[in-house]
Amino acid sequence: MPADVNANGDIFGGWVMAQVDLAGSVLPSRIGQRMVTVAVNEFIFKQPVRVGDILSFYSSVRRVGRTSVTVDVEVYAERFHDQGRFVKVTEALLTYVAIDSEGKPQALPENAQIAAWRQAIERNAPSAAAQKN
Ligand SMILES: CC(C)(COP(=O)(O)OP(=O)(O)OC[C@H]1O[C@@H](n2cnc3c(N)ncnc32)[C@H](O)[C@@H]1OP(=O)(O)O)[C@@H](O)C(=O)NCCC(=O)NCCS
Repeated sequence: MPADVNANGDIFGGWVMAQVDLAGSVLPSRIGQRMVTVAVNEFIFKQPVRVGDILSFYSSVRRVGRTSVTVDVEVYAERFHDQGRFVKVTEALLTYVAIDSEGKPQALPENAQIAAWRQAIERNAPSAAAQKN
């Protein structure tokens, strides 16, 4: 089997998962602490990725916990053989945990970045935020 291609001749799902993990880690890494992936909470391959497609990854913070950040990642493919057409190929939810020098979870700092994420989450889900109170 050629590397990164599946038996149908499309891109191997494991390769897409690795790119999603990398893309999802970008926002949590801005906190400035060492972060590790603890869970892939959801992963949906909506459409195949074809050889030659141009992929774009869009991520947003869905939840900020005490030590963890959960990120939503959406992947769009511009088809090589149908340029200008963008198809959502994958959506995923991943959780990253801040760790200390011994690899143990450590509390996130209460800095401007975290505050901005919390505000954005509340803005985007006012009813959910209201239900918590
Ligand atoms: C990440 C790790 C340090 C967590 O240690 P732990 O003792 O299980 O930590 P805890 O149970 O205290 O959970 C820590 C946070 O992770 C969250 N978490 C744990 N499991 C989770 C899951 N399945 N889904 C979502 N969040 C999860 C907890 O809710 C908690 O978040 P919060 O503090 O914001 O509420 C440990 O599991 C680990 O080292 N895993 C390996 C990480 C790794 O190597 N990743 C790369 C894979 S190749």
